[in-house]
Amino acid sequence: MPKDLIHALLSTRVTAERIERKNGQHCCLVVHGESNGCAIVNSVELSLWESTTPMNGSMSMNAERVGRSKWELDTPALLVDLNLVDQNIATMATFFRKTGVGWRPHCKGLKVPALVHKEIAAGAIGATCAKLGEAEAMAAAGVKDILIANQVVGAIKVARLMKLLALADVMVAVDSLENTEELSAASHRASRHLRVLVELDVGMNGAGIQPGEPAVDLSRKLRDLPGLRYMGLMAWEGHCDRVADPTERKAACEYAMGLLLDSAELCRKAGLPVEIVSCGGTETFQFTARISGITEVQAGGGIFNDLHYASQDVRHPFALTVLSTVISRPTPTRIIVDVGRKSMSDGAAMPMPKDLNDLKLNACRPSMERSRCRNPAESQRSETNWNGSLVTAIPPSACMTRWLGSEAAIWKSFGRFSPAAR
Ligand SMILES: Cc1ncc(COP(=O)(O)O)c(C=O)c1O
Repeated sequence: MPKDLIHALLSTRVTAERIERKNGQHCCLVVHGESNGCAIVNSVELSLWESTTPMNGSMSMNAERVGRSKWELDTPALLVDLNLVDQNIATMATFFRKTGVGWRPHCKGLKVPALVHKEIAAGAIGATCAKLGEAEAMAAAGVKDILIANQVVGAIKVARLMKLLALADVMVAVDSLENTEELSAASHRASRHLRVLVELDVGMNGAGIQPGEPAVDLSRKLRDLPGLRYMGLMAWEGHCDRVADPTERKAACEYAMGLLLDSAELCRKAGLPVEIVSCGGTETFQFTARISGITEVQAGGGIFNDLHYASQDVRHPFALTVLSTVISRPTPTRIIVDVGRKSMSDGAAMPMPKDLNDLKLNACRPSMERSRCRNPAESQRSETNWNGSLVTAIPPSACMTRWLGSEAAIWKSFGRFSPAAR
């Protein structure tokens, strides 16, 4: 998609008709107007979204909803605050520019190519995808430089990967000779040069070959295979998030990165052209990007932020939330809201209410379609009728919550936003 069109779509208010004419079915972000200071910017590129689980049958982001206040949405509704996304993208892009390390944001939790284009416009060098399907969606929307930070295995997927190479310059991770040979044979047959990184296990005990000699050995064999271009090494140090103390977490991260960098050095000594040393996520980017020798960092979810990242000292404002309705108040200290595990992730943290003004809730316990929340300040609020009130929840995991919602209401505030406009 041309850059000026993307810019126009993202920064101006245009009508649906204009978008449809210019863009066919892959319409981008559309602002149809404004209402009550916070208007819905159309959710979009639905044909590119991979989620097959509808969040809620009644929540269809059709034209009637576009341009209305977010407070008028049926609930539960997945909300993305575009102002805060822009702010978080700028924060991350500035950070990476200052550290001099390439930013290749993970898009497993975004799924909307228009947001990836925003990251690239802000300085990202490309996108990181968790899987082939995401990479296909990004490539179809014009993202050119894509890392699939995962193994692509088996005839069906490898054939798809070869087709994808016609659209984008894709790079994949390998951790076995079998898979490397499979990719080499397909790429050679297709007269392509697939870029490849060797993935190391630096303590996560997940995928990845062992650091040191095994990594050098696979790198050497890869370099000599036809159809492949050896680019270097990658690792994902996600296990560091289990370390609660920030100083110890930094040390754990540096230790893991030491394994990666020592292996890169061994590869170079063996005459291998290590151009890329890639790692890092939102939980760890503040450490990894400052370690000399790391060339790219894959942190992505920080553009939304969530309760898990916040527990890892990520201080960005929360841009992805879930709007829900209070549907019951069986006792003065208990309210029930219509958001549960089918529309918001649970996990390492409890969902947390936001925008509640003077209504203080804590201890939300999600079940499938609803959650129980406790109001500790019962005496203060006992006269309040909460039925039908709207509550915005911050999810524990933005990525998982995004995956649960087939559509998101992307909204933007205009001028002064007044919560009274509810
Ligand atoms: C390979 C890889 N890199 C990076 C990340 C971090 O991504 P994010 O910053 O979106 O949490 C993940 C998360 O699962 C990952 O699997």
